[in-house]
Amino acid sequence: MHAKRFSKMARPSSSWWMALLVVAAVAQLGASDLRTDYYNSTCPNVESIVLGVVKDKMQATIRTIGSTVRLFFHDCFVDGCDGSVLITSTAGNTAERDAPDNLSLAFEGFETVRSAKAAVEAACPDQVSCTDVLAIATRDAIALSGGPFFPVELGRLDGMRSSASNVAGKLPQPNNTLSELVAIFKSNGLNMSDMVALSAAHSVGLAHCSKFSDRLYRYNPPSQPTDPTLNEKYAAFLKGKCPDGGPDMMVLMDQATPALFDNQYYRNLQDGGGLLASDELLYTDNRTRPTVDSLAASTPDFYKAFADAIVKLGRVGVKSGGKGNIRKQCDVFN
Ligand SMILES: *[C@@H]1O[C@H](CO)[C@@H](O)[C@H](O)[C@H]1NC(C)=O
Ligand SMILES: *[C@@H]1O[C@H](CO)[C@@H](O)[C@H](O)[C@H]1NC(C)=O
Ligand SMILES: *[C@@H]1O[C@H](CO)[C@@H](O)[C@H](O)[C@H]1NC(C)=O
Ligand SMILES: *[C@@H]1O[C@H](CO)[C@@H](O)[C@H](O)[C@H]1NC(C)=O
Ligand SMILES: *[C@@H]1O[C@H](CO)[C@@H](O)[C@H](O)[C@H]1NC(C)=O
Repeated sequence: MHAKRFSKMARPSSSWWMALLVVAAVAQLGASDLRTDYYNSTCPNVESIVLGVVKDKMQATIRTIGSTVRLFFHDCFVDGCDGSVLITSTAGNTAERDAPDNLSLAFEGFETVRSAKAAVEAACPDQVSCTDVLAIATRDAIALSGGPFFPVELGRLDGMRSSASNVAGKLPQPNNTLSELVAIFKSNGLNMSDMVALSAAHSVGLAHCSKFSDRLYRYNPPSQPTDPTLNEKYAAFLKGKCPDGGPDMMVLMDQATPALFDNQYYRNLQDGGGLLASDELLYTDNRTRPTVDSLAASTPDFYKAFADAIVKLGRVGVKSGGKGNIRKQCDVFN
């Protein structure tokens, strides 16, 4: 497909501006080559195959939703959307997923991709990248849990390296300042509005107590142990779930609608009910509060903002040409 388009553009009859177009096309190789019908001829049923697997996995556990979406984010933020997060460590290589700030990537996300890839391989061997399987599964998990359905761009290759040492500083942390968060998103081509929209991924899934216990017990000791931006009732509830020094349990990120991918997340923030400090910050900081308010107020606006932003995210650092391939098995390099 690429070769065809290329040879057309590179015909000898090309005028000088045609040559410029070719240069522009080469410069953009990667994200610009993504297409929603990329597998039309090589694996026409890929989307329905993945959808079937995601439906089954979601029926088995709602943890499928948050863990699959999180996997996609983590993958794209570290070295681009290239499936590098799916690789398991070997004796000689500690892979991305085993980095200290892997955000406790959950088994269910990996398992969804593994099953979906196996089903896709059975229908169309060696055609579809693991990265694209993850992108489709992420879209489906979102749409099946009440979030927006959006056409998913495809044509990413799987990357050829995955290193834990590459992760530090690339993923948003619960204790980042707003400026730090903005910078991390910006380095991935995402603006502040995209960042607020994408944060709705915390409308589903769980977080460990250790990610927010400082807000409950060590905010500004000794006079102010608890973060005052936390709703008091919510703080008391969380203290019950996460006693100081207790086991590192997991808590639902959105207590109101835990299995729905919806804009309740933003209403929680308005109510002092953001779980992580980096969630509540979006409301307390006046640079992002107007976006929170507008997404809280309108489901259609939320759908559009989220879909636009995640499509943009899916274009980050896409590998093409010799920089990638199609893995046979998602957790090991070919
Ligand atoms: C891909 O398939 C869809 C649906 O069958 C069709 O609408 C579209 O035109 C096809 N695209 C190409 C490039 O064949
Ligand atoms: C995430 O990293 C921790 C070590 O920091 C490791 O114990 C855990 O197994 C990793 N999670 C996955 C899913 O690999
Ligand atoms: C943020 O949390 C990490 C642990 O997740 C810690 O290493 C770091 O020191 C914290 N940064 C600040 C500014 O508190
Ligand atoms: C935002 O808040 C800062 C201080 O927190 C204040 O100086 C600034 O005027 C505010 N900006 C707007 C647009 O409200
Ligand atoms: C941010 O990007 C979105 C598209 O994802 C765009 O609609 C919006 O206008 C941008 N916002 C700013 C402030 O540039």
